[in-house]
Amino acid sequence: MSDTLKTLKSLRQSRQFDGRPIPTEDLQTILEVARWTGSARNRQPWHLIVVQDKQLLAELGAIRDLNIWMSNAGCAIAIAMPVPAPLGADYDEGRLSERVMLAASALGISSGTAWFVDDEQVEKARTLLNLPEDLSVTSLVVLGYAEIASGFVGHGGRKPLTEIVSYEVFGQPDA
Ligand SMILES: Cc1cc2nc3c(=O)[nH]c(=O)nc-3n(C[C@H](O)[C@H](O)[C@H](O)COP(=O)(O)O)c2cc1C
Repeated sequence: MSDTLKTLKSLRQSRQFDGRPIPTEDLQTILEVARWTGSARNRQPWHLIVVQDKQLLAELGAIRDLNIWMSNAGCAIAIAMPVPAPLGADYDEGRLSERVMLAASALGISSGTAWFVDDEQVEKARTLLNLPEDLSVTSLVVLGYAEIASGFVGHGGRKPLTEIVSYEVFGQPDA
């Protein structure tokens, strides 16, 4: 299997970081990859906010109990999206997020998604990040060096292909 395929297949959510910062050169490489993400009508609707300040990382992580692990990350990239969201914005955001994670993985950097799930959390993030009214952050890609190698941190496996794929029509297995 090629290195690219290994990277694609092994990407997992990391939540345990050792606190080391991301080198500037690697961060620029990741942002450059992110810049080339495709988007609906090539709108490129995002604005990326790189958060490296440990205090701010901790405050963003504290918005939602599930995300307190953020405090030990090297940095986080908050994906600010337009309000109101244009058609396809969620899809665009997901593509960018995944690309950032894959670029990081190719550089030996682990990553995780941190998501806000309600208006109150989104408003807290808006205040912390000093966002203008026409932008909103629902997710961040958190980057760092994992204490446990990416690919072994998550406890989730995956459904087998037989459960998630049909051929020709729904419900028909491969011949
Ligand atoms: C849209 C989305 C939102 C997520 N939000 C969070 C989150 O807020 N906090 C968190 O710890 N993990 C979050 N995750 C990570 C998922 O829990 C993770 O991808 C899933 O459990 C699979 O884990 P694995 O890749 O380690 O196997 C999110 C993932 C996605 C795709």
